[in-house]
Amino acid sequence: MTPSLPDLIFQVTGVESAPLLAALHEEAFAGGEVWDADSFTSLLGLPGTEALVVLEGNEPAGFILTRTVMDETEVLTLAVRPSFRRLGLGKSLVEQILPKGKIFLEVSISNNAAKKLYDRCGFIKAGHRRRYYRDGSDALVLVSTPSE
Ligand SMILES: CC(C)(COP(=O)(O)OP(=O)(O)OC[C@H]1O[C@@H](n2cnc3c(N)ncnc32)[C@H](O)[C@@H]1OP(=O)(O)O)[C@@H](O)C(=O)NCCC(=O)NCCS
Repeated sequence: MTPSLPDLIFQVTGVESAPLLAALHEEAFAGGEVWDADSFTSLLGLPGTEALVVLEGNEPAGFILTRTVMDETEVLTLAVRPSFRRLGLGKSLVEQILPKGKIFLEVSISNNAAKKLYDRCGFIKAGHRRRYYRDGSDALVLVSTPSE
């Protein structure tokens, strides 16, 4: 599907966005492991942590949270609100951070939507962490492939 959202705006946000990130995260991960505003405040206080929010029109639609240490960047979380899904926003958020260099992340083996998205963005499997999540499910470790 080709995204047709001409009004996308990407904004790097700081610790002041913790309540917004918590609300977006709760909506996106409903029924799953939700991070509260205090968690985002702590994460955003760590050196190298950056939140990138995507707005459609003036409405926050999702975000990606990354942490860069030396030359490696980890995706800490990625969330798109349900009403904005399958429009290319998740992919565009990932594409925005690809220039950071080597990117790695964990994704649940049962998260088919996210696995497909990362595959579409060129990520490949680098490892497998058994019982990584609180619910006992395994995680795949994925790493970005350098673009030519
Ligand atoms: C995973 C998530 C971020 C995807 O966001 P999105 O904006 O809907 O993704 P995109 O529209 O950019 O999709 C890009 C591609 O990923 C794949 N994809 C995305 N959602 C999918 C789904 N539900 N089923 C199958 N493939 C899917 C498709 O290949 C899609 O391309 P297409 O629409 O052209 O077929 C979103 O579903 C979400 O927030 N989920 C809950 C939180 C989560 O799981 N975060 C990831 C943690 S690692």
